[in-house]
Amino acid sequence: MSDVSVLAISGSLRDASFNTALIRAAQRLAPTGLTIEPYRNLADVPPFSEDREAQPPATVVDLRERIAAADALLIATPEYNYGVPGVLKNALDWASRPTFPVTAWVSPLAHKPVAIMGAAPTGMGTVRAQLQLRQLFLWTDSAVVSKPEVIVTNAHERLAADGTVKDPTTETLLRGLLDALVTRIRITQLAATAA
Ligand SMILES: Cc1cc2nc3c(=O)[nH]c(=O)nc-3n(C[C@H](O)[C@H](O)[C@H](O)COP(=O)(O)O)c2cc1C
Repeated sequence: MSDVSVLAISGSLRDASFNTALIRAAQRLAPTGLTIEPYRNLADVPPFSEDREAQPPATVVDLRERIAAADALLIATPEYNYGVPGVLKNALDWASRPTFPVTAWVSPLAHKPVAIMGAAPTGMGTVRAQLQLRQLFLWTDSAVVSKPEVIVTNAHERLAADGTVKDPTTETLLRGLLDALVTRIRITQLAATAA
């Protein structure tokens, strides 16, 4: 089987973000053949406007192309006020749209394998944000991996900034999520071949 590449988006712009550290952890634990490329331009994605879709900003074109080129998305979301951070939701709103002028209602997120995870220094953090993301990806027809759920609570005890995972449960869950994502990618590739 050929190698696969995953575009990873942290929903936090914070330098010392636990979610960015979680993506580093995923890079460390990725199985052979899986490359995880972090997306670093989230802060530069302008606010979504339907008026700008016909001539989207260059950052948006790049984001959409990178999603289309990737075999899958890996998203690490913080939870802000029981929900998805605005910057992440904004980027996904841009990505959810078809290319203009519309010849077919297909977005880069359609049928795209997606894995969701999240880290917070709190005891319940990211549960609600992750659920909101799952709901969003229903509308986009994305192929979200449902299990295992990677909900890293008390992240300051489980994760180091360089992506070192300090507890075995988190490591097992993260490895399991990446394995499940590879399986989902393979299923998507097989379906595309058969179509
Ligand atoms: C605006 C704001 C809202 C927050 N709301 C929540 C929340 O609803 N639930 C929660 O568990 N933590 C909440 N937090 C705390 C975040 O979990 C914490 O800041 C976390 O470190 C953010 O993720 P990051 O480390 O990747 O930046 C909030 C933080 C901010 C700044």
